[in-house]
Amino acid sequence: MIRSLVSRRCLANAARLTRQLSTSSSHNTKVAVLGASGGIGQPLSLLLKNNPGISQLALYDIAHTPGVAADLSHINTRASVEGFLGPDSLGECLEGSQMVLIPAGVPRKPGMTRDDLFNTNAGIVRDLCKAAATYCPDAMICIITNPVNSTVPIATEVFKKAGVYDPNRIFGVTTLDVVRSNTFVADAIGADVGNTNVPVIGGHAGVTIMPLLSQATPSLPADFPQDKLEALTVRIQNAGTEVVNAKAGAGSATLSMAFAAAKFAQSLLDAINGKEGVVECAFVRSDVTKAQYFATPILLGRNGVERNLGMGKLNDFEQKLVEEGLPELLGSIEKGEKFAA
Ligand code: NAD
Ligand code: LMR
Repeated sequence: MIRSLVSRRCLANAARLTRQLSTSSSHNTKVAVLGASGGIGQPLSLLLKNNPGISQLALYDIAHTPGVAADLSHINTRASVEGFLGPDSLGECLEGSQMVLIPAGVPRKPGMTRDDLFNTNAGIVRDLCKAAATYCPDAMICIITNPVNSTVPIATEVFKKAGVYDPNRIFGVTTLDVVRSNTFVADAIGADVGNTNVPVIGGHAGVTIMPLLSQATPSLPADFPQDKLEALTVRIQNAGTEVVNAKAGAGSATLSMAFAAAKFAQSLLDAINGKEGVVECAFVRSDVTKAQYFATPILLGRNGVERNLGMGKLNDFEQKLVEEGLPELLGSIEKGEKFAA
């Protein structure tokens, strides 16, 4: 009796799983990764190759893409893989892409700020976005390259100049801040990390990273000491630097970033394909504060940003975080806009 109940349940679960897989794999989605041979690009491409919702993976870089693509193409999952090397092949790589993930550019070394990357990375993002605006103007553009607080405004200006700007389709990927916050908070309160969610708003650099611990799920205990809460906030703001220092000159976060970007890509694909109620924090065009771009929880839909869910109710400490982070964020946004102009 028990055995037949268990096997019926197993069969029902298997049927549900098959239905889910066939739904996600019934869509033909081409995803392009620009900077695919890099520290983020390679593990990100691997995770995307394992995503049954992706039918075509187009890998672009200025180095090593034939090798990366050949390697990944031997994996027996759905997505076909093609490598594109150098600017002459960028158009072909982008053509027909519904989503473009951009981790191209240099990473930090110890002692550098993300803004120190501006001089090299601004031009890279501008040129890649120019190509995207020409070859896949309707794609979702997901920018990982730092400084995100400036590269997203640059991308926007490029799409505007090309006459194909849609604010709902350009995202600065800040998922890693949420991933880290979930990990650190779950650890601090002894919660199940898989069921922990901490919204992170603002931007993606130092004091512009603003975790909303008062909105964490599950909630922090009412008697959670304020000094520990402040230390947790500072750790989240400096988590990128923690990795940069630990890597001691060999780059910044790559594996956790690839995980975060793959998570964001999955959510966006789900939403594009009609799944309802998909929410991710992202750095987008915004009127939530006086900053023209600001990360908040975003309800994603078929056309990208469906609704900006705003920052919710902040406590005094979080209000102060916003006040303290806004001047730097405004400066970084202006720097990006000026560069693109
Ligand atoms: P990396 O140096 O390992 O890889 C960068 C790749 O970009 C290289 O393969 C390089 O050949 C390629 N590249 C350089 N110029 C290019 C161009 N014009 N066109 C195409 N490809 C080009 O660096 P990484 O560790 O992968 O980091 C990449 C970027 O991501 C850095 O700017 C880093 O700061 C940023 N990053 C952002 C986050 C975030 O949360 N948004 C997290 C981690 C890293
Ligand atoms: C991160 O947060 O890990 C990235 O922005 C990389 C960096 O330079 O810290």
